[in-house]
Amino acid sequence: MAIEGFKGMTAKTIGILTSGGDCAGLNAVIRAVVHRAHHYGWRTLGIHDGTMGLLDRPLRYSELDLAAVGSTMMRLGGTILGTTNKGNPFAFPIPGKAAQNRSAEIIAGVRELGLDAVIGIGGDGSFAILRRLAQQGQIPLVGVPKTIDNDIGLTDTSVGFDTAVTVATEALDRLQPTAASHARVMVLEVMGRDAGHIALHAGIAGGADIILLPEIGYTLEGISRKLNALRAQGRNSALVVVSEAVRTVEGKILKVEHRGGARRLGGIGQYLAHSIADATGAETRVTVLGHVQRGSPPSAQDRLIGTAFGVHAVDLIAEGKFDRMVAWQNRRVVDVPLADAIARYQAVDINSGLVRTARALGVYVGQ
Ligand code: F6P
Repeated sequence: MAIEGFKGMTAKTIGILTSGGDCAGLNAVIRAVVHRAHHYGWRTLGIHDGTMGLLDRPLRYSELDLAAVGSTMMRLGGTILGTTNKGNPFAFPIPGKAAQNRSAEIIAGVRELGLDAVIGIGGDGSFAILRRLAQQGQIPLVGVPKTIDNDIGLTDTSVGFDTAVTVATEALDRLQPTAASHARVMVLEVMGRDAGHIALHAGIAGGADIILLPEIGYTLEGISRKLNALRAQGRNSALVVVSEAVRTVEGKILKVEHRGGARRLGGIGQYLAHSIADATGAETRVTVLGHVQRGSPPSAQDRLIGTAFGVHAVDLIAEGKFDRMVAWQNRRVVDVPLADAIARYQAVDINSGLVRTARALGVYVGQ
């Protein structure tokens, strides 16, 4: 297996996997990778369920050729390869026992398949794991950023973010008429983990009156003042967008425990709906948008960026450039050191133009 300098070499086999939470646009990346690899005369093996396909025996993967990626899959949400956001191979959970380090089995899987390079489509958590595996196993690795949270550093956007914003904006479009018909305050809770990008973008695009982000504090007085001001202007309803990691006024992060033990952010929408009703007397309702933000068919932008990322990722392999992440900067695809992208977590910049834009429209964004 070569680590660098593929130039001039002939037959190559590359592996591709999707890791972490799914999002729209993953299939566009996979399709582009297969097309570009075909151009170089290389084989592409699609690893199933992230690193799980390399951990299980028999190994789980499929041969991806042009027929396999066809003409419909780019339009589909999700990932044809499957993914996982649990089972860190360095601390693999074993029921009733201490977690085990199973990284060596994954590296052995890469060797068994004869992979000359691996393209990992993931977020910062997945990249940290894949990079550790790559270093331990001398595996040539290229990363493709995907996450609806858009919190990966050094890239203006990640695959999946635009679709999530579109879905959240459409939700606001649908909530506004019913809010106005019933004279209600509608609270929309959106995903995004610790970053408020989805709330901020969709809130502006969807005409929200109040946008609450984990990055900016708020008060119930501030929210009430805004709602009273709207009433004074003759408005009978309002739209509130809240990001899932926004804290209660007491500073608590709300989570939901799912069967099986997973704890996920959730509940702030309900909390705010109650708090607003108590503070203002308004009738409130809450919508938790949830995984609808991830499962939609990809927007044109996510298909476009995903396709450009897939092509560039394969070109990096052709140039023998590894440990890099493809990125979108200043209207074009570039590549950056994977370690730097992982290190630069990208929350909402509270002094950004978009925060100023929202405030300029009179939107309450906290203080
Ligand atoms: O990181 C993507 C994301 O969708 C977050 O926005 C959300 O908090 C989380 O994943 C949900 O995870 P799960 O799919 O495990 O419920």
